[in-house]
Amino acid sequence: MNTSVSSLSLRQRLRALPVFPEIFPPFEAGDGGWPEDPAEAFVAWLETAVDRQVVEPHAATLSTADAHGAVSARTLILKDIVDNGWQFATHLDTRKVEDIEENPRAALTFYWPEVGRQVSVRGRVVRLDDETSAADYRQRPLAGTDVDPDWKAFAVVADYVEFWQASTDRAHRRIAYSREDESQPFERTDVDPRM
Ligand SMILES: Cc1cc2nc3c(=O)[nH]c(=O)nc-3n(C[C@H](O)[C@H](O)[C@H](O)COP(=O)(O)O)c2cc1C
Repeated sequence: MNTSVSSLSLRQRLRALPVFPEIFPPFEAGDGGWPEDPAEAFVAWLETAVDRQVVEPHAATLSTADAHGAVSARTLILKDIVDNGWQFATHLDTRKVEDIEENPRAALTFYWPEVGRQVSVRGRVVRLDDETSAADYRQRPLAGTDVDPDWKAFAVVADYVEFWQASTDRAHRRIAYSREDESQPFERTDVDPRM
């Protein structure tokens, strides 16, 4: 099928779109270095994204898979980070919750184009207590006083957090924090950007 609406092919028009801005922040989190804790590094990058006026920097893509490995992804809003658990809230009657019940692994991907940065978080999804869920519901704009009992808060408890920084000369950089299990400390390693 020919999807072109101009004399240029879709492939040519996609190739011509700009990808990254001209000026990027340095590849660091906080005061020149990288902290031991990936959540701390994430908050430092989030603050930079806010300072640089990234639109909805707390929006992320949550990817889940069902028991057969069929993958789904959707955008949602980060609510908090506690004990390396990236928290979100959603309705119980959704595909993501069905997936999580079948397969409690998920990934959250943040992309902040104005600073050429991406953060990927992978881990185990846990459901938070009803008090946290109710508090989240009450904080929603336009929410009434009655709490929807099917609105629940969850957290992706990270075992892998990767920070990726674009560079104008294509010498992109990435670094990853990973841990064998949640009782272990995170280790930080440079990762080949492969692009
Ligand atoms: C910017 C943006 C923010 C969103 N925030 C949330 C959210 O915090 N929680 C939520 O359940 N859905 C949110 N949604 C809707 C989801 O993307 C999705 O459509 C919905 O949760 C149903 O997903 P599912 O059927 O794949 O589980 C948001 C969508 C957009 C575009």
